[in-house]
Amino acid sequence: MVSSVFVVGNWKMNGSISRAEEFCQGLRRFELDLAEQVEIALCVPDTLLAAFSASEDVRVGAQNISEYDSGAYTGEISADLLMEQGCDLVIVGHSERRQLFAESSEQVANKAAQALRHGLTPIVCVGETEQQREQGRTFEVVGEQIQAVQRELKAGDIEKIWLAYEPVWAIGTGKTAQPEQAQEVHSWIRAQLGKAGVKIPLLYGGSVKAANADQLFQQKDINGGLIGGASLDLNEFQSICKIASALTKPKG
Ligand code: PGA
Repeated sequence: MVSSVFVVGNWKMNGSISRAEEFCQGLRRFELDLAEQVEIALCVPDTLLAAFSASEDVRVGAQNISEYDSGAYTGEISADLLMEQGCDLVIVGHSERRQLFAESSEQVANKAAQALRHGLTPIVCVGETEQQREQGRTFEVVGEQIQAVQRELKAGDIEKIWLAYEPVWAIGTGKTAQPEQAQEVHSWIRAQLGKAGVKIPLLYGGSVKAANADQLFQQKDINGGLIGGASLDLNEFQSICKIASALTKPKG
């Protein structure tokens, strides 16, 4: 069972050192009165990683990693270089990487394996496009993305990843999946992961904001969110952390 609620920001190619400093200050757990079981993380551009490395309250992640150790790969960044910046997590296979940079599911799986070999936790993103959903191919597409990871990682390693279901049609569009729609895919993913499924945090991503986080995070198989646009606004992100915190406390 996954008992924590995960609030993970994805700044994409946005932010600045001053914004990173503002977030370090503004996300102090004791000031926000957050429950222990809330995990906060921000995945930021590589040049901002170090600004978070001293924070005890926020885990920091990158948004991409090379599948290679080192060498003649101009413009790429290795696991070791990320670790040196205090990086702890890394997003792999975000739909923007799959679509704009033609990353295949196999490459994404290799990146996840490379992250794990070096002690970084990969957040593997999966999700279907609007057209694929309309064609009734959601489970086929998400299944193919997950199977590539299952082929590449040893069974014992699969339980160390985090997974984010991000329907491509909900990313940056303001069109969130209905909580029941997201839950349906999440519970299916958990079943596909077999024994590891009960241990892996399954995050939902796609236009998550303070106004819809509560309903989404309440779903049985949703352990938190991967949040793009709303993670760039400190007030909004703080509110989502507080919503997550309220959900970890005993109800009633
Ligand atoms: P969004 O992005 O919250 O802006 O839709 C989510 C993501 O791309 O991870």
